[in-house]
Amino acid sequence: MGSTRREFLRNSWKAGGALLGLAAGWTTYESLRPLALPAAGANIRLGSVSSYAPETATYVTAGRLFVANTGTRLFALSQKCPHLGCRIPFCESSGHFECPCHGSKYDIGGEWITGPSPRGMDRFPLTLDGDTVVVDTSKTVTGPERGSKQYFKPAKGPSCAPKA
Ligand code: FES
Repeated sequence: MGSTRREFLRNSWKAGGALLGLAAGWTTYESLRPLALPAAGANIRLGSVSSYAPETATYVTAGRLFVANTGTRLFALSQKCPHLGCRIPFCESSGHFECPCHGSKYDIGGEWITGPSPRGMDRFPLTLDGDTVVVDTSKTVTGPERGSKQYFKPAKGPSCAPKA
């Protein structure tokens, strides 16, 4: 009886470990896998303009995009990297978008800073209806050319990218 219980516990431990390994692998896979295009487009209403503080980037799952406030302008930036389509996270510590796949970096306005990406992050048209932010996810506007530095600010802190 005792040994059966011990065996059960040992096997439960193994199963738990396998599940944890699976979860970690899935998370890595999810962040590195190329992003499919957003769901068929439509206007999405994203709340009050005042909910987007200056120099922040807010992820919107419904559109797979970030609403980024440069301090002077709001952008709806596609999360899909223009290089090979990975999902680009926003790094809070640096204040830049940093692609985990091949190291492209973009400023808060989605402008290219460094890396193999051919241009800045693609955008969706963003308008205001009163003080409500509305984004049209049916149209993608090609990101700015590499030389654009309108919203560039140096990193405010450490990069999120792993050190080489
Ligand atoms: S997919 Fe982003 S740098 Fe290659």
